[in-house]
Amino acid sequence: MGSHLSEKLVMEGHEVICLDNFYTGSKANVAHLLSHPNFELLRHDVTFPLYVEVDQIYNLACPASPIHYQRDPVQTTKTSVHGAINMLGLAKRTNARILQASTSEVYGDPEVHPQEENYWGRVNPIGIRSCYDEGKRCAETLFFDYWRQNNTEIKVVRIFNTYGPRMHPADGRVVSNFLVQALMGQDLTIYGDGSQTRSFCFVDDLIDGMIKFMNLPAEITGPMNLGNPTEFTILELAEKIIQITNSNSKILMHPLPLDDPKQRKPDISLASTLIGWNPITDIESGLIKTMAYFENVIKESRK
Ligand SMILES: NC(=O)c1ccc[n+]([C@@H]2O[C@H](COP(=O)([O-])OP(=O)(O)OC[C@H]3O[C@@H](n4cnc5c(N)ncnc54)[C@H](O)[C@@H]3O)[C@@H](O)[C@H]2O)c1
Repeated sequence: MGSHLSEKLVMEGHEVICLDNFYTGSKANVAHLLSHPNFELLRHDVTFPLYVEVDQIYNLACPASPIHYQRDPVQTTKTSVHGAINMLGLAKRTNARILQASTSEVYGDPEVHPQEENYWGRVNPIGIRSCYDEGKRCAETLFFDYWRQNNTEIKVVRIFNTYGPRMHPADGRVVSNFLVQALMGQDLTIYGDGSQTRSFCFVDDLIDGMIKFMNLPAEITGPMNLGNPTEFTILELAEKIIQITNSNSKILMHPLPLDDPKQRKPDISLASTLIGWNPITDIESGLIKTMAYFENVIKESRK
């Protein structure tokens, strides 16, 4: 997501310092920006302080897929919590406005559908997803405490499942998994019986909402949901991907992982009221664009 955000900001004429420790990200995703005079790439880990001069900060640093954030769960919590402290410290020192890429995971396995921003969530504090969910919850707490204590200008967005080109092909998220499996002619693996639902937002729509929200008046802090409310079962998604890729792959069912939420759907009324935002990319067009990217990744890997 950060590469798409950087690209859009650079194209709008902003100067962008993009920092990444390349834990899940890749230089290749910003290679096309490296020669642009308004773009600078720094290898930096947000768990360490950073001293630069900026007027806006988008804090997106954090592995987002379960296989990546569960590989080193202590580092995941550190990235969210120490990362938030360091970036909020930078915002305080430079008087910059700061946006936190929070997540629908702060709602945990919710009892209310769709999830509105005033729902406090139902999160397991000691499970295998907690490093991510609780790390992001604590980051939100820190954002609101910096706002109350220091008048730091904050914006918190809660992002629901987002997909698109430049995803890591092996990051284990459902859209990338299914597309790669279908394109390679492998069977598609569904965890559970496929009846769990998700809503999928195309990355361009998400970035558009994020930038609009960042530039609202200071008194609007969020949290604000961003995501596509059109729900699909995982089984429907698998079937659609098999159809789009014209693949002969079959669908295989595996046991559901622990704490996997059964249903996820954003209520985006607030985004619609505040920034007039509604996702405009339907699942079919988004999947076709993402498929083209993965086709290229697979082709390159076979060279
Ligand atoms: N994609 C989604 O569906 C989704 C949903 C909710 C929230 N989010 C949030 O949005 C942000 C971006 O997600 P994404 O989908 O692009 O994931 P991603 O894994 O592709 O990107 C995360 C980036 O953060 C970098 N990173 C990780 N730890 C770091 C550290 N300690 N210091 C510096 N950089 C670090 C990674 O190398 C990577 O480039 C994340 O904070 C994620 O939690 C994403």
